Amino acid sequence: MTALLLATTNLHKVKDIHAILGNQFECLTLKDFPQAPAVIEDANTFAGNAAKKSVELARWLLRSSVRLPGFVLADDSGLEVDALNGAPGVHSARFAALERGQIGNSSSAENNAKLLRLLENVPVAKRKARFRCVLALTPIPRLQTELFDDVCEGRIGIELRGHGGFGYDPLFIPEGYELTFGELGEEVKNRLSHRAKALQKLKERLALIGP
Ligand code: IMP
Repeated sequence: MTALLLATTNLHKVKDIHAILGNQFECLTLKDFPQAPAVIEDANTFAGNAAKKSVELARWLLRSSVRLPGFVLADDSGLEVDALNGAPGVHSARFAALERGQIGNSSSAENNAKLLRLLENVPVAKRKARFRCVLALTPIPRLQTELFDDVCEGRIGIELRGHGGFGYDPLFIPEGYELTFGELGEEVKNRLSHRAKALQKLKERLALIGP
């Protein structure tokens, strides 16, 4: 069975990826490698950050681990809101902290509150947004990273709704629906989401290259 190390400390992403990939792959996490270094996400694109996380971790594994998975898989993702010229974008995880000049991520509640505040006077028709996900897959020991990306189009609601998912899910209404990802639940989200669509491309590629 192909073993993938998921290069993320975000347990919600791990859960999503696991649910979408199914039992076809052995998914290891950073909990299995407690000595792994933290990677600083300072690139200004999702692709740059995803590749950085994946490659740095793969290099570290080659230097220091006896247990080598077949691949390192990193996910960099976020929300792009048209009325905010694409913000929060790569800063999605630290959107609220940014304006306070804080280092580190902000809570989802703070990020969502900031988003609602910035869109306060924006009418429904102009609240178009999308989630974007870029996956970086680095094979070990070859280190030739491949990227897979996709988006999920939708709009930002006017209030928080639903308790499912994480991050901006209670504000994001996918195209063709009237409910937020927070209300639609895991099963629907994992069919429609940016992450689900990018993972589908990755699965097709893995089926070609094999373990
Ligand atoms: P990253 O760990 O730097 O990729 O941060 C991703 C951030 O984007 C998360 O902390 C969330 O705020 C947001 N995000 C990414 N994917 C999702 C999703 O599926 N639902 C809700 N928010 C998401």
